[in-house]
Amino acid sequence: MTSTWTPTSWRARPIRQAPVYPDPAALAGVESRLRTYPPLVFAGEARRLKAGLAQAADGRAFVLLGGDCAESYAEFTANILRDSFRVLLQMAVVLTFGASVPVVKMGRMAGQYAKPRSSDTETRDGQTLPSYRGDIINGPEFTAAARVPDPARMETGYFQAAAKLNLLRAFASGGYADLHEVHRWNLGFVERSPLADRYRDLSARIDETLAFMAACGMTSATTRDLRETDFYVAHEALLLPYEQALARVDSTTGDWYGCSAHFLWIGDRTRQLDGAHVEFLRGLGNPLGMKVGPTQEADDLLRLIDRLNPANEAGRLTLIARMGADKIAARLPPLVRAVEREGRKVVWITDPMHGNTVTAAGNLKTRSFDAILSEVRGFFDIHAAEGSWAGGVHVEMTGQDVTECIGGAHRLTEADLGQRYETFCDPRLNAEQSLELAFLVAAELKRRREASAPALAAQ
Ligand code: PEP
Ligand code: CO
Repeated sequence: MTSTWTPTSWRARPIRQAPVYPDPAALAGVESRLRTYPPLVFAGEARRLKAGLAQAADGRAFVLLGGDCAESYAEFTANILRDSFRVLLQMAVVLTFGASVPVVKMGRMAGQYAKPRSSDTETRDGQTLPSYRGDIINGPEFTAAARVPDPARMETGYFQAAAKLNLLRAFASGGYADLHEVHRWNLGFVERSPLADRYRDLSARIDETLAFMAACGMTSATTRDLRETDFYVAHEALLLPYEQALARVDSTTGDWYGCSAHFLWIGDRTRQLDGAHVEFLRGLGNPLGMKVGPTQEADDLLRLIDRLNPANEAGRLTLIARMGADKIAARLPPLVRAVEREGRKVVWITDPMHGNTVTAAGNLKTRSFDAILSEVRGFFDIHAAEGSWAGGVHVEMTGQDVTECIGGAHRLTEADLGQRYETFCDPRLNAEQSLELAFLVAAELKRRREASAPALAAQ
């Protein structure tokens, strides 16, 4: 039996990765103000997302979750948000075509401000300071003053998230997400790519499909689904004082919802069964995610699933596997098998980023495009072998032309990293690398679908 949940029951549990605020009165003041502010999302939206994810749990939808590792308060501009949103939509279109099912779209956006760190301190040139923990906690500058946790940053995060969410909603329903436009951007990408020949076939087929639909009378003018899209926001629910202050009782159901984002996840470092993060999130009605890294054992995973999704509700829980290209073949199959054997309804998605981070010359963190693609392929292979649905992809990406991950069609090398290395935390795929990944994954999904179709037909 687990004890009764309340919005504060996490406070009696051991907690990891929590900042220590030097001024508790200032913290309490911010928390009490945030408790009175309007919620950023409505519970009904979270339920709609959960229904979409339930389809993915059943093999009838695919999930795309992407965005910055850490959003930055300094990069609070419409253009940066627009460009990432646009690339995610472009990726979603090709994945929809490849998987031949709806794609549930979520951004690590409008709230992805708190970061777990592997070390509490950072040393540069002999000076040691507390680590940067994300803009909602402290500052990235390497000074003692910037690294002190400041509760006022929570209010900045709230207001920036509200403004970003407002623009994302406007983009999603105001015409920017029109499928024909998004497809046109993809055609531009294909023509620019050194690997254009590999992508042309898929984009030509999408072209034909849109032309056929238009001939049948389905155009942006006549069909809402062609000119608008559903887009949801997600972040790691790491900073629990903030998350608690934005939890609200939904007036239509009487249930508690986390109203800082539609989808909240638990990181790989804070998924202890009796820890504070699992305790807090289990009481919310939102769809939840949990990162599953290479140290995760099957019996513990099953206990976590039962704690977070005791009713075995499809769409409630998404497991985000982040094993590393070299570990996935050994670590993921026993977990998938245990979940299948016990009949637990989850969505499995792959995070091919966090297990593939390496330190390059110049002490810059990077990831190789090949390792990322290899983990994605491993993920599909394992699910195919276990007879379960590979339900989606999670990426750290940006719509900017940064140089943070190596490889890809433009063959970025370690020597190029210094040109535009702009991330505040982990290295992200740039716009071109993100689209390449989407095209390659879509082609793979399509090939697998076609390969399994005759077997299905013969049954
Ligand atoms: C992240 O997604 O940014 C992250 C920190 O991941 P993980 O918890 O899997 O390390
Ligand atoms: Co990251």
